[in-house]
Amino acid sequence: MAQLNQEQPEDAWQIEYLLDLTFGQGRASLSSYRLREGVAPLPELCLVARDDFGAILGTIRYWPVTVGTARRAALLLGPIAVHPTLQGEGLGSSLIRNSLRRAAASGWKRVILIGDEPYYGRFGFRNAPFLKFPPPTNPERVLALELVANAFNGVSGDVQPWTAIDEADTAGSERGQGTSCPAGKAADA
Ligand SMILES: CC(C)(COP(=O)(O)OP(=O)(O)OC[C@H]1O[C@@H](n2cnc3c(N)ncnc32)[C@H](O)[C@@H]1OP(=O)(O)O)[C@@H](O)C(=O)NCCC(=O)NCCS
Repeated sequence: MAQLNQEQPEDAWQIEYLLDLTFGQGRASLSSYRLREGVAPLPELCLVARDDFGAILGTIRYWPVTVGTARRAALLLGPIAVHPTLQGEGLGSSLIRNSLRRAAASGWKRVILIGDEPYYGRFGFRNAPFLKFPPPTNPERVLALELVANAFNGVSGDVQPWTAIDEADTAGSERGQGTSCPAGKAADA
């Protein structure tokens, strides 16, 4: 039975290995990585699933982003990965549901991801044609979830990286109450 815990700094190499295994080593060329460069992930939402010996079987990470010219705060879900030998056993769902509960509890209102609606639809994600993701991105794979009813009403446009200015600005007032997210070297995946 896997245990879900917050990611620790010493987990980094196991997570890198798991992400290379599931996505391949060219994963940094994915458009979502452009939104993570130079921005730290949100430690309170970055979870790992471990076996009884401490080996990491699954990972999920989140970054803050902004949407539109009004720079409204949102979470970028991902990357998420489950070890190939354990896929289809519910671990991915546990990581997603657990982290989304934490995100809602700490005050985040909206979540964005790039993925397959047939999978993420079960968690409430829907295609979001009102969001513009950095290219190259298939618009059908841009998905959004409201953690608070109508949280995306009036929120549309370019999805952009979080900046130090957002920390003190409109977006900052909307972000969850986790650890602050200083711009700087990303502990990126
Ligand atoms: C996607 C992933 C995280 C899901 O984790 P998981 O533990 O395998 O998923 P769960 O066991 O919670 O759910 C399994 C169900 O999801 C379905 N599913 C998994 N990936 C899917 C996809 N891309 N599209 C549609 N359905 C999918 C399975 O068919 C299964 O369906 P069932 O419940 O009807 O049997 C995992 O398969 C993975 O790491 N894949 C490789 C990396 C990846 O693609 N990450 C996501 C990028 S958007």
